[in-house]
Amino acid sequence: MERTFVMVKPDGVQRGFVGDIIKRFEQKGLKIVGLKMLQISQELASKHYGEHQGKPFFEGLIKYITSSPVVAMVLEGKDCISLARGMMGATDPKKAAPGTIRETFGIDIGRNVIHGSDSAASAAREISLFFDDQELMCYELSLASWVY
Ligand code: PPS
Repeated sequence: MERTFVMVKPDGVQRGFVGDIIKRFEQKGLKIVGLKMLQISQELASKHYGEHQGKPFFEGLIKYITSSPVVAMVLEGKDCISLARGMMGATDPKKAAPGTIRETFGIDIGRNVIHGSDSAASAAREISLFFDDQELMCYELSLASWVY
């Protein structure tokens, strides 16, 4: 089964969307195998968003992501990387499809509520940045046979 990294960003936590967002993933049939709240350090932020260093929005993005706690999670399920990205919608909430998380909860690209890995390589890298192996659970969901 594929795994992906998802993070409710500081604005999502501050505005009280953690439960609604987790609920969407659970209702879809994705399994939560890791979950934690943390305050992102400058160092972790720079590693996580390293590929965007030098872009005009980089400094603002680092300031935003380190401004208040986030909720990080690892989800597991068939094709969950693209599935979760689809549920989030486009990076810019104004361009996100109706009903997606960013369209529902966001207005501005700089406060877009949620992050999700965009590829298998990103997922592996981001999961290992935020979680130790022992923080990721292996368990059976009795629902699984009804989802697939
Ligand atoms: S790029 O240049 O196309 O690769 O960038 P993009 O994929 O659109 O965005 C990369 C991450 O930067 C965030 N972003 C911004 N944050 C703050 N302000 C502005 N203007 C801005 N533009 C892009 C965007 O949300 C992406 O973060 P994640 O967490 O991956 O969604």
